[in-house]
Amino acid sequence: MTQIRHAGTAELRIGDKTLSLPIVEGSEGERAIDIGDLRTETGLVTLDYGYKNTASCKSAITFLDGECGVLRYRGYPIEVLAENFRFVDVAYLLVHGQLPSQEERSRFSELLNWHSMIHEDMRHFFYSFPEHAHPMAILSAMVVSLSTFYPELAQNSPEEEIDMATTRLLSKIRTIAAFSYKKSIGEPFVYPRHDLKYCANFLNMMFSSPVRPYEVKPEVERALNVLLVLHADHEQNCSTSTVRLVGSARVNLYAAVSAGICALWGPLHGGANQAVIEMLEDIQRDGGDVKKYIERAKDKTKAGHAPLYGFGHRVYKSYDPRAKIIKEVYANVLKAMEERDPLLDIATELEERAMADNYFLERKLFPNVDFYSGLTYRAIGIPKSMFTVMFALGRIPGWIAHWREAMSDPEFKLQRPRQIYVGPLRREYTPPKPAKPARRGRKAK
Ligand code: ACO
Repeated sequence: MTQIRHAGTAELRIGDKTLSLPIVEGSEGERAIDIGDLRTETGLVTLDYGYKNTASCKSAITFLDGECGVLRYRGYPIEVLAENFRFVDVAYLLVHGQLPSQEERSRFSELLNWHSMIHEDMRHFFYSFPEHAHPMAILSAMVVSLSTFYPELAQNSPEEEIDMATTRLLSKIRTIAAFSYKKSIGEPFVYPRHDLKYCANFLNMMFSSPVRPYEVKPEVERALNVLLVLHADHEQNCSTSTVRLVGSARVNLYAAVSAGICALWGPLHGGANQAVIEMLEDIQRDGGDVKKYIERAKDKTKAGHAPLYGFGHRVYKSYDPRAKIIKEVYANVLKAMEERDPLLDIATELEERAMADNYFLERKLFPNVDFYSGLTYRAIGIPKSMFTVMFALGRIPGWIAHWREAMSDPEFKLQRPRQIYVGPLRREYTPPKPAKPARRGRKAK
C-alpha cells in the first residue's frame, strides 16, 4: 500500500493547552488530522454522528471524489472499466490490485467454474425457509453457513488459502443467489454450467428450467456485466464498513461478508433499488401524481413523509457517475428486449421535476446508482425482491478486497468507537424490605 504522506500539523487549543496534531495526506491529496493521541493527551474524544468527517482507515482500493463525480477502482476510471471489462476482470482487479493477464484470466475463470457448485447438503437449507422469506435474509444465512462447510480463514492464513476462499465465495454466491430465487418461485434449482461465463451462467440458473431453455441475449449479458462492475466497490460505505468492523474482531471472511449483506439490505443503502421501484409503482397506482411524492419527500413534518428514493448520497454532491452509465445501459436493454416500461415515464418526470426544484438543488441531491438500476433489473426480468441480492452479487469483490486489505494492514485494530454517555447519573439501589412472615395459628374470620 502506498504510504501516507505527512503534511504538517494542526494546532488544537483546549483551555490553555495547545496540542499539535499531525496532518496526513493520501495519494490524491485528501488530507486528514490524525487524532490518534487526542484522548491520551487531553482526555477528550471526538463526536461525529454518521462518521461524516471520520476516516476509519487507509485504503488503496477505490478513490471517490463526490464533489467532481469521480470514481476509480485501483486507479482506473469507472467509465473505462464499465466499457471495456467484464465483471470477473474487475473482481480480479479489486482483489489482487491489477488487471489479470491472459493467463491469470483463464486460471481465474477455471477456478470460478470449479467452485461454482455448493455442497449438496446446503441445497436442503433452502427448503427450511418460509415461502416468502426475503432473498437477502436467505443470502446472508447461506453465506455465513459456508463457514461450516469450508475451512475457516484466520488473519494469518497462507495467501493461497485466502485466494481459494475468495474464489469460492465469488463463485458460490452466484449459485446461492439463483437458488434462492428458484426456491421463492417453487421451481427446481438449475445447476451452474462450465461452458457459460460468469454473468451468462447466473442468468441461466435464474431463468432456465427443465421444460424451458433460456436464451442469454448478448445485450442482457453485457448489461448485467456493467451493473455488477458499477456495484463492485464504493470505498467505506455502510456495508463495507460493516465488513471491516465485524472483520476487525477477526471473524472469518464468510461471517464478515454475511454481516455486510445484512447492512446492504437497508432501504437507505442497497435496499434503495427495491424502494425506488416500489415508490414508482405507488406513483403509478396513485394516477401518476409525481408532484405529490416530491412534496412528501420535502416536507419532513407530513405524516407518511419518505425521502425520494434513488436521490441523494452521503459522498456524491454531483451526479453519481454510476447513474449516468446505468441510464445508457437501461436504454440499450429496453431496445434489445423490444419493451416499453410505463415506470420509465414516471422516473423521467420525477428526475426532471426534482432537478428543477430548489430543495434538491440546494441540498445537492442528484439521482444515485439505485435510481435506474432497479428499472434495468426489471427490464432483464429480475423480480423486485432480488434487486438487492443483485447489488450484493456485484459488491462481493469489494467486500473481499477490503477484508483482505484490513487483515494485512499492520495498523488495523479492533474497531470500537467511543460514545458520549447521556444517561442517568449513579443511582442508589435500596433493596426492598423482606416481607414479614405470616403469623401462624390465626383462624380465618
Ligand atoms: N429525498 C428528500 N430529501 C433528502 C433526500 C431524499 N432522497 N436525501 C437527503 N435529503 C435531505 C435531508 O432530509 C436533509 O435535509 P435538511 O437539510 O432539510 O435536514 C438534507 O437533504 C441532507 O441529507 P442528509 O440526511 O444529511 O444526507 P445523508 O448523507 O445523511 O444521507 C442518504 C444520504 C441516506 C443516501 C439520503 O440521501 C437518502 O435517504 N436517500 C434516499 C435513499 C437512497 O436512495 N439510498 C441509496 C444511496 S446509494 C447507496 O447506498 C448505494
